[in-house]
Amino acid sequence: MLVNGQPTRPLMPAPEADAVLVIDQRGLPHQLRWQRVGDVATAITAIRDMWVRGAPLIGVTGAYGLALQARVEASDAALAAAAQALIAARPTAVNLAWAVQRLHRALLPLPVAERAVQAWALAGALADEDVAVNAAIGRHGLALLQAIAARRGRVNVLTHCNAGWLATVDWGTALSPVYQAQAAGLDLHVWVDETRPRNQGASLTAWELGQQGVAHTVVSDNAGGHLMQHGQVDIVIVGCDRVTARGDVCNKIGTYLKALAAHDNGVPFYAAMPLSTLDLALQDGLREIPIEERSAREQTHITGRAANGELVEVQLVPDGSAAANPAFDVTPARLVTGLITERGVVPADEQALRALAA
Ligand code: MRU
Repeated sequence: MLVNGQPTRPLMPAPEADAVLVIDQRGLPHQLRWQRVGDVATAITAIRDMWVRGAPLIGVTGAYGLALQARVEASDAALAAAAQALIAARPTAVNLAWAVQRLHRALLPLPVAERAVQAWALAGALADEDVAVNAAIGRHGLALLQAIAARRGRVNVLTHCNAGWLATVDWGTALSPVYQAQAAGLDLHVWVDETRPRNQGASLTAWELGQQGVAHTVVSDNAGGHLMQHGQVDIVIVGCDRVTARGDVCNKIGTYLKALAAHDNGVPFYAAMPLSTLDLALQDGLREIPIEERSAREQTHITGRAANGELVEVQLVPDGSAAANPAFDVTPARLVTGLITERGVVPADEQALRALAA
């Protein structure tokens, strides 16, 4: 998608194919800076410290991390250790394990001397696949938005966190239908939840929608219920980090509250789900999905741009107050109207999901 009018991706292989270049999302929306990820240790840091984030993008970064390891040492033991460390960098989004394991499995049967070249090519293929999958999600989601537009004229979408192109290799998941609707000429407006504590909505979603020229309004996380009560939200579309066989949706903390409010107000609630996010090994999302507990500092402090243009961090809470920071929550399948996948829109139930994945 566009940055300053130029097609841009948040992750690109370096010209010499010895590293990947990633947008350092910690600087956005105020600073657009790139980081070079040239070894597996840096890939782990980039994922863990959220230079890159969003389920599909950390998956592709993980795959490139393993490919960078293969350039240095591609023995079975070295690849296994690197894969394990990459997967441990963030526990909730299943895409990370999915992508790293897929690459790892493909490399093991190959002679050690061939692994580095193959790994780089396979990581690139995974990135291309992500783009195609997200474009397909957008086409299926577009039909939902067109149906609303036919009834109501302007379409008001509410989204939580960032599930746009910054969270993927391109297009995004939840925002892919929005970008396709924009291209189709629909009259569209997006309510952007700020998404405390890291503010992926206020800093990332707002920035990428603005770069693309999509009308949007940033609201506090607490405003969504009120907007729905007053008929100002036609549809909620969120991303997801892991979906269980029975259709429980794990996504950024606060998603569950939006689903409850949507249910109470008769607003359709959809999660955009690439099949790489479906974890058929799990059933009960509430009990079985590991929820990442991040640093309390993300809760107690906030970073923004000072009047002199510099990024500064300030403290929000009193000295000594305890703070907790669970990063994800689980929305039970009964609150989910449907899942927008690359193979179509399906209900959040086991029969549909197993048939989809077959
Ligand atoms: O902690 P983050 O910023 O990686 O969490 C991201 C989200 O929750 C996204 O909505 C989700 O990964 C889907 S990304 C297409």
